[in-house]
Amino acid sequence: MTLQISPTDGACGAVIEGLDLSQTLDCDTIKDIRQAWLKYHVLVFPEQSIDDDDLERFSQYFGEFAGDPYIASIEGRENIIELRRGADETTPIFADSWHTDWSFGKQPPAATILHGLKIPPHGGDTGFINQHKVLKDMPAELRARLEGKYALHSAKLAYAPDGLYGENEGETGRGFKIKTSESANDVQPHPIIRKHPETGEEAVYGTFGYIIGIQGMAPEEEQQLLMDLYSWQTREEFQYTHKWQPGMVVMWDNRSVLHKANGGYEGYERILHRTVVA
Ligand code: SIN
Repeated sequence: MTLQISPTDGACGAVIEGLDLSQTLDCDTIKDIRQAWLKYHVLVFPEQSIDDDDLERFSQYFGEFAGDPYIASIEGRENIIELRRGADETTPIFADSWHTDWSFGKQPPAATILHGLKIPPHGGDTGFINQHKVLKDMPAELRARLEGKYALHSAKLAYAPDGLYGENEGETGRGFKIKTSESANDVQPHPIIRKHPETGEEAVYGTFGYIIGIQGMAPEEEQQLLMDLYSWQTREEFQYTHKWQPGMVVMWDNRSVLHKANGGYEGYERILHRTVVA
C-alpha cells in the first residue's frame, strides 16, 4: 500500500491518510510508516476509529512497551495511560512545559503515541519542536559552548514527592493518578548534542526542566548556558503546533523533538490514551 503523506506547514510533522489502524498492517506498510516517522519526526493519522486493542497493536509495530514510571495505567491495560482533564478541573495543565519523554532515564523511549478520544472545540493543542533543525540552524558560538557537554537529566522537579506533581496533587482532583517517588531524584547524564540512533542525524537532546544541570560546570555558568539553549531551541520557526480532532492518532520521535501540552479549553473535557515505546 502506498501511504498518502502530506508534510505539515510547520518545522516537522506529516499527516498520513488512507490507513485504517483498526486493521492489521502488513510489514511493508509498517516499514513505510517507520521511514516517514524518522523523516518527519511527528506523524498524524486522522479519523481513526480504534479501540485500546488497536492502539496497543499499532504501538507494538514499533517496539516493546516502555511502561510508565510515574503515571498509573488504566484498569486492565498495563501499557496505556489516560490523560484525562475534566471540564471543571483546576489543576495545572499536565506536561505544559517543553520536554522529551523520560529523558531522565538511562535508555529513554523512542516513541510516544497518543489517541484523541475527547477533544475540546478549541485549545488543547500539542506543540512540537524539531531539535535537528534547532541544531542545524544554531549559531556557531552557541554550538561551540554545547559541544562535548553532558546534561544532567532528572524527574525531580516534576515527580519527586516535593515536585510539581508531588504530595498535594492527590487533593486537587486531577483526572488521572500520578505516582510520585523518591526515585525521581535520580540523575542521568546524556550528551546535549547527540546522534539519532537510527538515522545518525545530530540533534539537541532535552531541555531545561528535566535537565537540571550540566556535568562539570559551575551552577551560574550552567544556568546561563541552559537558558541560552532554551531561548534558541524553543523559537517559533522550529515548531509545529498540532491541532487535535477526535479519533486522531499522533506518534512522535522523542529522540528528535521536544513537545508540550497546551491549555485554553476551560469548561471542556479532554481525554487521550497514551502508549510509550522503548
Ligand atoms: C504528553 O506530554 O504526553 C501530553 C501531550 C498532550 O497532552 O498534548
